[in-house]
Amino acid sequence: SEIHKIAVVGGGGVGKSCLIIRFLNDVFFEQYDPTTEERYRKDFIIDGKATSLDILDTAGQEEFKTLGDRNFQKMEGFLCVLSVASKPTIGEIRTIIQQIKRIKGDQIVGVLVANKCDIAEEDRVVSLSQAEELAQEFGMKFFSCSAKTGYNVQEAFFQCVREVIKD
Ligand code: GTP
Ligand code: MG
Repeated sequence: SEIHKIAVVGGGGVGKSCLIIRFLNDVFFEQYDPTTEERYRKDFIIDGKATSLDILDTAGQEEFKTLGDRNFQKMEGFLCVLSVASKPTIGEIRTIIQQIKRIKGDQIVGVLVANKCDIAEEDRVVSLSQAEELAQEFGMKFFSCSAKTGYNVQEAFFQCVREVIKD
């Protein structure tokens, strides 16, 4: 089956690693262990088609960032993540999307994820409509997700792969 390369990007602590672990193993960890860079490989059936995914987990924390332009170049699709629990993460993902567009061309291939949607609405600092507006601005499909509960996680990854396949 064809191998598709997906990178998961976003600010520090938005839940990139937790989303990947939820998607691959259907578990969740409360502890925070900042990522330097990890790669995962797993086979799926997506829309009836055998698909191999090569998933790159990137560093959100500035001091661990190793992912240069050359690495982004090799990626086909981007799962772009912000957290509804952290205001700066909306600006951080915007900057990353702009960087990807500079490298990969004008239309970004991927989806936008607002993670940590298990958090009660009154405790959120980023609203879903704010996140959705950002997705619209860049012409991306939008998913509200929770790595903690698993809500919408598979849907977001699968849609990211669909965007790659149709590109
Ligand atoms: P870096 O690797 O530093 O860029 O961070 P990351 O984006 O990979 O974040 P990570 O997955 O390590 O999660 C950071 C913290 O947020 C951890 O304590 C997680 O348990 C927590 N977390 C992740 N996803 C969720 C979620 O959906 N809901 C809640 N409530 N907490 C979450
Ligand atoms: Mg991580």
